Amino acid sequence: MTLTMEEKQALIDLANMARQRAYVPYSNYHVGAALRTRSGRLYTGVNVENAAYPQTMCAERVAIFKAISEGEKDFEVISVVTDNGGSPCGGCRQVMAEFGLDTVVLLADGSGRLVRETTVRELLPDAFTPDRLHTQGNK
Ligand code: THU
Repeated sequence: MTLTMEEKQALIDLANMARQRAYVPYSNYHVGAALRTRSGRLYTGVNVENAAYPQTMCAERVAIFKAISEGEKDFEVISVVTDNGGSPCGGCRQVMAEFGLDTVVLLADGSGRLVRETTVRELLPDAFTPDRLHTQGNK
């Protein structure tokens, strides 16, 4: 899928705006995500922390779960914005992989600069995907 510079920047800017709403009293590490589906719908997400630390939810998963809960599961691209252009955690990579390895992933820093353009396939080599469950004897 080919994205124009303008489309990429729009998704980054959307994630960066969402990022301001991150609930991060413990880490103070603001993460924003913006997901675009094949149908053109947009879903944002932020990280939501909790006093019981493991209950924290990442921004990418919030965006993905919002989309799934609205009946959208064909994803084209997700942008992720952090202060330093950080890359998605392993758990988020696995959740992204569930819905397709070809989803484009845009990583940007707090100034809105694209630092890396990649795909889920590249971020999670040899992924465990839904088709792995559909082997003989496990249908
Ligand atoms: N975080 C995300 O939102 N996405 C990631 O992929 C990596 C980590 C959040 C979780 C936590 O609120 C903070 O960043 C520090 O780990």
